[in-house]
Amino acid sequence: MNDAEKRRKFFYAMKEANMYDETIEWVAPHYCLMHEMMFQLVEESLGDELVSNDQNIIALDIGSGTGEEAIKLLEKIPTLKLIGIDLCQPMLDIFQERADELRIDRNRYRLIEADILEEEILNKIQCQAKDSFNVTKFNLVISAFTIHHFSSDEDKNECEKEKVFGLIHSLLKDGGVFILGDLFNYKKESAILTDTIAKWETNWISDNFEREAKSADDIDSERAMKLRELKNAWVWHYRWENKLDSMTRQMEVLKRSGFTEVGNPFRYWQVGLLWAKK
Ligand SMILES: C[S@@+](CC[C@H](N)C(=O)[O-])C[C@H]1O[C@@H](n2cnc3c(N)ncnc32)[C@H](O)[C@@H]1O
Repeated sequence: MNDAEKRRKFFYAMKEANMYDETIEWVAPHYCLMHEMMFQLVEESLGDELVSNDQNIIALDIGSGTGEEAIKLLEKIPTLKLIGIDLCQPMLDIFQERADELRIDRNRYRLIEADILEEEILNKIQCQAKDSFNVTKFNLVISAFTIHHFSSDEDKNECEKEKVFGLIHSLLKDGGVFILGDLFNYKKESAILTDTIAKWETNWISDNFEREAKSADDIDSERAMKLRELKNAWVWHYRWENKLDSMTRQMEVLKRSGFTEVGNPFRYWQVGLLWAKK
């Protein structure tokens, strides 16, 4: 992806990154709840590894953005070390600021600005893990609201979601866990639900931004204008740029990629969680 494409498609992670944390809860239904459930699943999945003080837990976060899921893990699990990957440097800059404010030791994590779909990514991640933490395999891979940007079309030559799931599988230790919090549609489950839920969600986003813009109208017209601009950009992004697939189909792809146990413990509209064990 060239720079112009990146700036256009990921407007919220490039030019508007400073508005991301303030507005993302108006974009993704139950954003906080999904992250909280993701954290609880991490705790359950790691089980005994969490109580062992002499063993580091090594985690990878794909599309770490401003750090919502990664910083929570670093804060709450003292033995955890993490590599965060994101395409957009402005998001990683905010991640760094948030982590510094919480005084999280910089030696416990590394942030890499990279495209998870690029050819050399496996090698790049393994080299970083070896240099930083003296390992090449991970106990845990997480990803929130990122993989829905990747293609899944079965009749295309390349299914990017399958490529990423394969990469994650090869980076995990045996018994390691991948937790995916993301947007999913109802393709091959129900055409009616696919359309209906997408409509509910885009209307909800639109209403949220409009409500906030209205309350800014008389106080700060510049902010009101910015919020309306963001509303239009997000609705466009949702309708035309996201590449959602259903949970059912993605669970099939995870199984094809070698995961032995796969399940979906949470779903609300298009937002959901998948859990997969190697
Ligand atoms: C909606 S944000 C989610 C950020 C964070 N995980 C959260 O839950 O708030 C999606 C992030 O994925 C990143 N991203 C998108 N495509 C990517 C790719 N191919 N490789 C790495 N990061 C990517 C974007 O830059 C953005 O920061």
